[in-house]
Amino acid sequence: MGDTAPQTGELAVAGGEHIGALLGAVEERLQLEAVGYGEPLQQYGEATIAAGGKRLRPLLMLLCAGPPSSQEQSDALVRAAAAIELIHSATLVHDDVLDEADLRRGQPTIVALAGRTAAVATGDLLFAKAFALITQDGDPRTVELLSDACSALARGELLQRADGWNTQITRERYFERCELKTARLFEAACAIATNVTGQPTLQLAPFGRAIGIAFQLLDDMLDVSGPSERTGKQRGTDLLDGTVTLPLIIARASDPEIAAVDLRSLDSAAVAESLCDRIAKSGALEETRAAALQLVSEAKLGLPAELDDRRRRALEMVADNVVARYS
Ligand code: IPE
Ligand code: IPE
Ligand code: MG
Ligand code: MG
Repeated sequence: MGDTAPQTGELAVAGGEHIGALLGAVEERLQLEAVGYGEPLQQYGEATIAAGGKRLRPLLMLLCAGPPSSQEQSDALVRAAAAIELIHSATLVHDDVLDEADLRRGQPTIVALAGRTAAVATGDLLFAKAFALITQDGDPRTVELLSDACSALARGELLQRADGWNTQITRERYFERCELKTARLFEAACAIATNVTGQPTLQLAPFGRAIGIAFQLLDDMLDVSGPSERTGKQRGTDLLDGTVTLPLIIARASDPEIAAVDLRSLDSAAVAESLCDRIAKSGALEETRAAALQLVSEAKLGLPAELDDRRRRALEMVADNVVARYS
């Protein structure tokens, strides 16, 4: 994470004393879930969890929930927060197969290390663990919220594949994909939080949706800007695998040379990086960030009036962090 973006620790402090302890419990639970399957699956599952990541979805869930009112609620929240991170990690392992990505969280991807079969099986294992964990609560609504987000994610990934190499896709289509593949899981983090803690009238899902879309816009911007030492991912991965994102859509409109590029002709990381440089020069990254900022500002304004000040401030910080991040 970058120098100016608030660190997870700061966000945890803003959310209240309970957040640090709950995040620690989520981390312990994640370590437990990743072991006990025999080699080689255990090795890949453990490596995925141990590589870290920002743990943003669990944090968002815990901040939305507020302090739990009982040990039982606290345990259910920790399980749900660990489950959402397991789902997220599973989707990343599978996503790297689809995107043919080499680098993730600063480490070689499972697909690059061990091939497609190992990566697909590792993702499947993490999905299975997540659902086994979340069903322990015995609340079908929580399971349904998580399952709906997973279905949306799968549809989003398929839409992205269907759109592959097509530089003519519209902004609307691009935003639809961002909503499905990324924002629905953020939305689920918020909705599960209020469901587990019995706050059915507190509508935080629209906030999750808006910052989720903004998060993907920033991710797509970072794919162009890098640098990979900061993002932990290879720069230009989207261009190389034919994924057309907002920076390219914007740059094509103002630069005829970019508009003329056939993505299939990009045959090396170096060629993709030089197209990244050209997209950056067009001003498309600033415009992409501005679109994300707009979403974040709407998300903050739309937070429910009945929300207490502490949660409001912490959620506003999370939203700002989405547009200030560098990884
Ligand atoms: C990456 O998510 C996938 C997207 C939705 C863009 P994160 O950037 O939250 O990944 P980690 O967990 O911090 O590695
Ligand atoms: C988000 O899209 C991936 C998922 C929601 C699974 P990306 O393909 O842009 O994510 P990164 O850049 O690989 O993390
Ligand atoms: Mg990817
Ligand atoms: Mg990306």
